[in-house]
Amino acid sequence: MSKGPTMKAVSVRDGRGPASSLYINSSVPAPVASAGRVLVAIKAFGLNRMDIMQREDRYPYPLLPESGKIMGVEFSGVVEEVGEKCNLGFKVGDKVFGLAYGGAYAEKISVPERTLIPLPPTLDFKTAAAIPETFFTAIQALHLVGGLAQGESVLIHAGASGVGQSAIQVARHGGASKIIATAGTDEKCALCKELGADVAVNYRKEDFADVVQREFGGKGVDLIIDLVGQSYWHRNAACAAMEARIVLVAALSGSVIDKFDLRALLNKRLSVLATTLRTRNAEYQAALRDKFVETALEHLSTGRMRVTLDRVYDWSQIADAHTRMEANENAGKLVCLVNS
Ligand SMILES: NC(=O)c1ccc[n+]([C@@H]2O[C@H](COP(=O)([O-])OP(=O)(O)OC[C@H]3O[C@@H](n4cnc5c(N)ncnc54)[C@H](OP(=O)(O)O)[C@@H]3O)[C@@H](O)[C@H]2O)c1
Repeated sequence: MSKGPTMKAVSVRDGRGPASSLYINSSVPAPVASAGRVLVAIKAFGLNRMDIMQREDRYPYPLLPESGKIMGVEFSGVVEEVGEKCNLGFKVGDKVFGLAYGGAYAEKISVPERTLIPLPPTLDFKTAAAIPETFFTAIQALHLVGGLAQGESVLIHAGASGVGQSAIQVARHGGASKIIATAGTDEKCALCKELGADVAVNYRKEDFADVVQREFGGKGVDLIIDLVGQSYWHRNAACAAMEARIVLVAALSGSVIDKFDLRALLNKRLSVLATTLRTRNAEYQAALRDKFVETALEHLSTGRMRVTLDRVYDWSQIADAHTRMEANENAGKLVCLVNS
């Protein structure tokens, strides 16, 4: 086998295992800038819950060949090489960030130029690396799948999660009339309101269905972004408006619904939609990137939208970063700096 250029990347000892099995491998084959693609020297990458599943080799969906073995779906960095047939004007030395199918826990990544986003001068590498996954997911759920229309009301569950925080801000700037968010502590509720929620429900103290009933006087809510699943399902249907949409993004509380009466959907002509980001094809991802640039990039660069960074690690501490995420100790995004 011919020996091409190598790079450092995070690997899992024996192919799968706990956080302590993560290490920086110095002899991983380096990607190249093939036709239509740009090679980026990575400065920072963001962590996501799916990385834990990939580390343990129990990722629930078939990974596309594009994903490769290396974890990490969001990054920021500097353009190192521009492949043939690229024509969007990216140049060596440009600062960029973006979403990837995988491969961001590394010194270099090769991505289609259509998916790259120029880094605004007001954003630094660590912040930019924490943006793509949650903002793309929120934009997908609210706009592309949920079809949020001007003046509609929105209920966002797990409002203080990474996806929830992005969704509140995207809904606020996307024309929602009223946003209700749910979260598990008063501090998280305060954060939801700071980000743009009109009402934040501490679900440990109050039933969100009662709050929706109170706020909308029985009309119900037009669009529900649900990350919780099982424990909220009956109440989601109960507090949805006529012809509302429920967009399922995750099932944090469990995925099996017991004794659900389908007439709850029929009675109100509800649409239940489910979506995942990483399984989408390259054209869809590129369209989503464009929607992100249209609806969020300027707001992020001027500070009208933001990401909450929980901790920033050097990538040599990747095991600590995974341990923190697995223990649910983070409130906001975890980011690693590459060769800081
Ligand atoms: N479909 C997609 O394309 C897509 C894309 C990205 C992420 N996701 C998924 O979305 C989920 C959230 O990801 P994230 O990175 O935003 O998470 P995160 O920032 O780690 O936040 C998760 C939060 O969800 C809340 N939560 C957890 N279990 C709950 C339960 N049983 N009932 C109510 N709330 C609960 C907790 O907040 P409280 O203290 O407020 O309860 C927790 O802090 C993950 O499952 C992730 O895999 C899906």
